[in-house]
Parts: sequence; C-alpha cells; structure tokens
Amino acid sequence: MAEIGKDIDKAKAILEKGGLVAIPTETVYGLAGNALNQDAVAKIFAVKSRPSFDPLILHTSDLERIHEFVSDIPEPLEKLALAFWPGPLTLLLPKKSVVPDLVTSGLDTVAVRVPDHPLTQSLLSALSFPLAAPSANPFGYISPTRASHVNDQLGEKIEYILDGGNCQVGLESTIVGMEDNQVMVYRLGGLDIGAIESIVGKVQVMAHSSSDPKSPGMLKSHYAPKKPFVLGDLEKLVPVYQKRGQKFALLSFRSAYPQLSVDYQVQLSPLGDLTEAAKKLFAAMRALDSLDVSVILSEQVPDVGLGKAINDRLRRAAAQEKEE
Ligand code: TXA
Ligand code: MG
Repeated sequence: MAEIGKDIDKAKAILEKGGLVAIPTETVYGLAGNALNQDAVAKIFAVKSRPSFDPLILHTSDLERIHEFVSDIPEPLEKLALAFWPGPLTLLLPKKSVVPDLVTSGLDTVAVRVPDHPLTQSLLSALSFPLAAPSANPFGYISPTRASHVNDQLGEKIEYILDGGNCQVGLESTIVGMEDNQVMVYRLGGLDIGAIESIVGKVQVMAHSSSDPKSPGMLKSHYAPKKPFVLGDLEKLVPVYQKRGQKFALLSFRSAYPQLSVDYQVQLSPLGDLTEAAKKLFAAMRALDSLDVSVILSEQVPDVGLGKAINDRLRRAAAQEKEE
C-alpha cells in the first residue's frame, strides 16, 4: 500500500525524480506527475489503465505560470480564470510546444487548471514544473474524494499519497473552452453554469457525444460503480426490487427509507443542499458499491445549479454499455 502523509518535501522529491504522487484538490484527488517529463506522464496512463486518447489536465500554482504553456487566452476565458482560480474550473487553451503531445493526446489544446487546496498549492509553488493529474482512480471508475479511496485502488502502484482530507467540492472541475468564438462547456462540474454565466453571459453546454468525445470525461458510461446502478423514481423502484427479493442499496437525495436498514442507504443531503450532496456523492457511491448487494438504486437530484453536474454523474454511473 502507498504511504499516506502530509509531507510536501517528500512529495516534491518523488515528483522531481519522475515518480507519481496522489494529490488532494478541492474537486477530487489527482494522480500527479511532472507534466514535462514523458516517462512520468506515460506512468500516469499506465497506472490508471487510461487509454492514450484521453488527455490530461495540467495543474499550476497560478494564472501567471499558465503563460509558459499556452500561446493565447481568449478574453472570456481569462475573465473566468480571474474570477474563479484557484477553483474548480479547467480551461482548454492553445498549447505551446513545450507541453508534450502525450499530455494532450496529440490535440493542439491543453487543459489547464489552478486547484484550490493549501497542500497542493504549496507543492505546486515549490516545483519548477507543472503537474499533469487526472483523477486518481482506475479509468472509468468513480473519482476519489479522500486519501483512502486512492489507496484502496491504486495503493499498490504509487509511492505516496498527500493527504489533504476530504475534498471540499467533491465533483471534478467544470471544463470550459471556446468554439466558434463562443464559450463552450465540455464537462459539467464543481463550478456551476450560473456562476460562469454571471461573468461571460450565456454559454453553450456541449451535448453528450459518445461516439466522438471531444472530452472523454463526457463518455456515456464513466464515473461508474462496479455494481449495476439503476436510476429512477425510488418510490416505484424499491417495491419492485423488494418483490423480486433482490438485495439492493439505496442512494437518495433527501429521504430515508425506514423499510431498509440504515447500513444499506445513504442520503446525500437530508436538508436538500446541493453543495453538500456534491461533496458526499462519490464517497457514497463507493461505500454502497462495496456492500454485499447486487444492485444500487438511486434517484436524480433537482436539476438546478450543481444539481445538473450531480445528475450528469448519476446518469453516467447508470449507463449500461461501457465504452472504454
Ligand atoms: O477536477 C478535476 O478536473 C480533476 C482534478 C484532479 O484536477 N481532474 C480530472 O481529470 O478530473 P480527468 O483526467 O479525470 O478528467 C479530465 C478530462 C478528461 O475527460 C479529458 O478528456 C478532458 O479533461 N481533457 C483534457 N484535456 C483535454 C483537451 N485538450 N481537450 C478536450 N478535453 C480534454
Ligand atoms: Mg477522471
């Protein structure tokens, strides 16, 4: 298993010799390596079993340092960076040649983000290179929101996990770029569309495309538990599965189901708070996935604000066909 701790010097030393370290961010934990070192980047893909067509996000300590890696920042995107960095926002920008093609899977844009977590901020400030970091989970599975999640699945394959506690946002960053001079959202995430629109006006949200994903995080089946995950109206689903005698677990937004043991259900937010629900979502999915049940039943949350990103993840978890 990996060593878990808060030692920034240790993390720095491992990264400087081309190794990988799991890092905390406000969204989810990342699996980080030196973005300018091809061998380190190749290791990231190998450890995650991630297909090489799925590009990585480059993380830096601040907006200034982004200029070393991108040739231009269109004005609306710069406004977003100024408003929301450090924070759960990733920008797609034209890359400079210093960024290895392996990081961007050969695309001419690079995804960049300034994460908002004190430990990772200190680490990034201490390093002379940016970090490439996808979420620290095996490809296609649920993203990790605490150090133990990373250790459970990737502990055998990495040396060190920098422990920053529970992720405060709990959903991956919102990915934004430009298309035909329009601001386009490629992945819904921890920064809600309303906040983005308050800075740059109305934006487009990329319709899901499973055949030719611009952003493979948009793949129909992704963020998925191992157990079948069924999304619907729990009032209707529960009696059906009870009648069938099938053992199930429940993921609900607010309501508890007294007919089922508390050990087999999680309420994302009894008070109906979407920020709390986002923060708890992935840990809840993982906990239910580890129970001795044959199926997880779930419902959508209100489709407003962060609820849109939560519902996006729930739908992908429920998508049957695995496309990876
Ligand atoms: O919150 C987050 O974004 C976390 C933390 C660790 O920063 N990272 C994360 O990385 O979610 P990952 O690799 O799991 O998801 C990044 C997504 C992928 O869907 C990838 O396809 C997309 O970003 N992406 C990266 N570079 C891209 C590019 N140049 N064009 C389009 N999509 C890109
Ligand atoms: Mg991911």
